[in-house]
Amino acid sequence: MSEGRTTTVSVIKADIGSLAGHHRVHPDTILAASRVLAEAKRKGVIKSFYVTNAGDDLQLIMTHFKGVDNPEIHELAWTAFREATKVAKDLGLYAAGQDLLSDAFSGNIRGLGPGVAEMEFVERPSEPIVVFMADKTEPGAFNLPLYKIFADPFNTAGLVIDPRLHDGFIFEVLDVFEGKAVELRAPEEIYDLLALIGTPSRYVVKRVYRKSDREIAAVVSSERLSLIAGRYVGKDDPVMIVRAQSGFPAVGEVLEPFAFPHLVAGWMRGSHHGPLMPVGLKDSKVSRFDGPPRVIALGFQVKNGELIGPADLFDDPAFDEARRQAQMIADYIRRHGPFMPHRLGPEEMEYTTLPEVLKRLKDRFKPVEMGYKPKVKHESGEAADVD
Ligand code: 13P
Ligand code: 13P
Ligand code: MG
Ligand code: MG
Repeated sequence: MSEGRTTTVSVIKADIGSLAGHHRVHPDTILAASRVLAEAKRKGVIKSFYVTNAGDDLQLIMTHFKGVDNPEIHELAWTAFREATKVAKDLGLYAAGQDLLSDAFSGNIRGLGPGVAEMEFVERPSEPIVVFMADKTEPGAFNLPLYKIFADPFNTAGLVIDPRLHDGFIFEVLDVFEGKAVELRAPEEIYDLLALIGTPSRYVVKRVYRKSDREIAAVVSSERLSLIAGRYVGKDDPVMIVRAQSGFPAVGEVLEPFAFPHLVAGWMRGSHHGPLMPVGLKDSKVSRFDGPPRVIALGFQVKNGELIGPADLFDDPAFDEARRQAQMIADYIRRHGPFMPHRLGPEEMEYTTLPEVLKRLKDRFKPVEMGYKPKVKHESGEAADVD
């Protein structure tokens, strides 16, 4: 971190209940959360804020000078979600309080259900950031776009032609099953990087740093609700903050990967793959089969800790073709019904009814003479006889 006063951007989100099933956040809950943040701004706890929705997820975008993981900021977000939940309950909104997995706040909001992406930096004279917020998907959904933004010169021209980007970037990859992280460098370790992040349910790009000076470039929320709760409780609809321009990829390079509506996990009941459709705020809601999964991108300038904006970046005909492609992919993949790869694989279904079905059928499975004894690879990587 360079010298000087640092500004922190905190994006904290939760599904606290929604209108018409999992369709969209109700405006009254946005108001309830905004009131809490306005009061905190008046008291000087935060410098500025913007409250919005990604589908049924309530999004708090805040700037302040207290650093990441600050208990006061996390408690503020918790209070805003609790107040919004009260309104959601009064209105009988669907799944009111869905993502608040605890009754009590204990110093840090991570692990309680809400998703958190925060970064702290010394502001450049002009500091453009893009906040991405997605619904009906999971944190690993940003792996592919992040790879393209920070490691693929066919996406980001600056990697080749801007000397300040030419050294490349460092990817911090989190193993969400083991709670471990590894740093991999691009371009020299891109094959190892891809070997991991091509499994987005387990390996999540948590942060990206510029290699030349370790300046923070991007951060993603990595909370996985089912791994916190031990059962399916809704999808871990993620958020991401990316810094742009002047030594980072240009805003257009940051948006470019989303012109390809790649397949992500999290559609209908958190159990299906579908295309990630980039949309403007007016379409930040889900309908068909509770989807398709959507992502919005809001651009801000950060100046003296103040959020200037937003610019609704996907509200543009330039992304019409991506949306049309997403519709075609949705049509195609929907026809698989309950079959993989539309439905997620068994590892991802373990918190749903699948284990119960298997348990119920256990005694009805009879041995079959196959002519060989199957050897199945276990987690150790060793082939072993099946019991
Ligand atoms: P119901 O059990 O209320 O139908 O909800 C299903 C669902 O929306 C899963 O997230
Ligand atoms: P959310 O995780 O967005 O609440 O969606 C739940 C779901 O199962 C929709 O089908
Ligand atoms: Mg919901
Ligand atoms: Mg959601």
